[in-house]
Amino acid sequence: MIYLDNAATSFPKPPGVAEAVGEYLSEYSVSSGRSSYPAAVKVSKKIFTCRQNIAKLFNISDASRIVFTLNATAALNTALKGILRKNSTALISSLEHNAIARPLNYLKETKNINILTLKSDKDGYIIKEDLENKLAKKIDIVAVNHASNVFGLVQDIKTIGAICKKHGTLFMVDAAQTAGEIKIDVKDMNIDILAASGHKGLLSPAGVGFLYLRKGIEFPPLVHGGTGSNSEQSIQPKFWPDKMESGTLNIGSIIGLEKSTEFILKRTVKEISEKKSAITSYLIQNLNQIKGLSLYGPDNPGPDKPRSDKKRTSPVSFNIAGKTPSEIAEILNKKNICVRTGLHCAPMAHKFLKTYPEGTVRASAGYFTKEKEIDRLIATLKSI
Ligand code: ALA
Repeated sequence: MIYLDNAATSFPKPPGVAEAVGEYLSEYSVSSGRSSYPAAVKVSKKIFTCRQNIAKLFNISDASRIVFTLNATAALNTALKGILRKNSTALISSLEHNAIARPLNYLKETKNINILTLKSDKDGYIIKEDLENKLAKKIDIVAVNHASNVFGLVQDIKTIGAICKKHGTLFMVDAAQTAGEIKIDVKDMNIDILAASGHKGLLSPAGVGFLYLRKGIEFPPLVHGGTGSNSEQSIQPKFWPDKMESGTLNIGSIIGLEKSTEFILKRTVKEISEKKSAITSYLIQNLNQIKGLSLYGPDNPGPDKPRSDKKRTSPVSFNIAGKTPSEIAEILNKKNICVRTGLHCAPMAHKFLKTYPEGTVRASAGYFTKEKEIDRLIATLKSI
């Protein structure tokens, strides 16, 4: 299998991840945070270490402010539904994924919230002056997709964070496509709320994501219930992370995330970023050689350094004249070359690209992708 769908989920996982999950399932598959026997303590320690690893990766000083969720979507829902009240206003970019667009549209219907969309330049970058102008009025949250899952465009979240801080507005980043691939420092970038999945750039199994909320941000959890703490009380504990984490966690995936974040911390985000940038550049250069192929988005992946305004990350979208994305996918499927086609749960981005409603073909390389795998894709596309 030639796997070029890492923007959907990463494959393969780093060495040791499957083994760690397998060992948990076969040797000590017990619950966490509820009991004091040795296996339960071992599981709780692994979950603790996983939280610490995430804190190190994103420069979060208090790991208890990291809440495990099912995925990035659940994390974003928790924050949006917790923060936005009747008649609140949310400000978003023109490239949001449905993980932000749909909860907001639901809140618009049920709580009459206002959704304002930031203007972007011809490439898709948020226009900073428009952000400044819109923040002059009361905005309850600025929610921005760090990188487009459709065409890899990376927003300048450091500048956006600084502008939000100046105006005293909450700033939430959807890092589903960048966590583990691009350096994110919540303090340096003034990020109040960060949501990400574990199974994409953080290389864990699916079924775990996280939500970070800066100290001082408090709202009710989406789910109430047993936490293994303060059980004599009929109401949710007020301390973190228990306040926000009810019910048994997806322990197997968190143990996988502990191992994969250990791998990322050892390799460093910088090295991962450089390697993914190099393989994405190779993909783009080769796609650019194909007659009749239209490529979308910035074409200069850069290593993890203070970015220019034109940085991009690994999802690469294209179309071929005379063929629909699904026709192309059918041909690639027969060769076991895995890509994703259509709208990628991000119709806003496709409306921006003018590729709505058919969408595009998206190839997304991962840390383990090899040039010879890209060569196989290119050879097949050339034959098309
Ligand atoms: N949002 C994921 C993707 O882009 C699932 O494929």
